[in-house]
Amino acid sequence: MAKPGPALPRHIGIIMDGNGRWARRRGLRRSAGHKAGIQAIRRVMDAADKAGVHCLTLYAFSTENWSRPRQEVATLMRLFEQTLQAEVDELHRNGVRIKVIGRREQLSTRLQRLVEDAEQRTADNSVGMLNVAINYGGRAEIVDGVRQLASAGADLSQLEEDQLAGALYTAGLPDPDLIIRTAGEMRTSNFLIWQAAYAELYVTETYWPDFGADDLRAALADYAGRDRRFGGVLEPR
Ligand code: IPE
Ligand code: IPE
Ligand code: MG
Repeated sequence: MAKPGPALPRHIGIIMDGNGRWARRRGLRRSAGHKAGIQAIRRVMDAADKAGVHCLTLYAFSTENWSRPRQEVATLMRLFEQTLQAEVDELHRNGVRIKVIGRREQLSTRLQRLVEDAEQRTADNSVGMLNVAINYGGRAEIVDGVRQLASAGADLSQLEEDQLAGALYTAGLPDPDLIIRTAGEMRTSNFLIWQAAYAELYVTETYWPDFGADDLRAALADYAGRDRRFGGVLEPR
């Protein structure tokens, strides 16, 4: 039977794309676009909270993004460090639990320490949940999940979907109901490929640094009008 989704997504994943194009359009370096992108995160988190959406997963750096120029990778890593350091206190005060998802062993020791500190300090918070995907790839995540189950002695010949879902970085969270991608590209770029199996996709031409509260509200309004069928048939509204 058709299962209409609730009008509000319980979990939103955001592919924050277009920082480079935003900067180029202004004659600036790509790093200026990444810096401007941080401001957009603040606005969107605030707007999501006000709208009643309390679980966000932000795609900040993919397992494929290492192929960018060294300088750009270094800038991004420095921004992640600075932002974590600058924002954790306030997020904690607001009751937000922070989690970084991805293969963190490839991150600098300094960033790993900041991540662990942020996660530990906010571990008991329950007002909101912020996942930041850094060195994240959906394929890597599935491989890591299977490896984890195998090393725990699971019989992989009997593997069930729930079991694998429970071994992913997002274990315990609802699947994203809505995936937003800025800057127009119609692809998932390896983001939450398991969890987003039935997510609604919303793509906007707006570059990430320009994305704000109004854009989030537009995405939520669009989502509220979708008919989610989950493979069933459409029931009259
Ligand atoms: C998204 O913006 C940020 C990251 C992938 C880290 P881009 O840097 O991909 O911006 P475009 O796609 O080049 O405009
Ligand atoms: C996806 O953006 C990754 C992040 C937003 C972190 P990309 O800019 O890396 O994606 P492609 O290369 O256009 O698919
Ligand atoms: Mg891009």
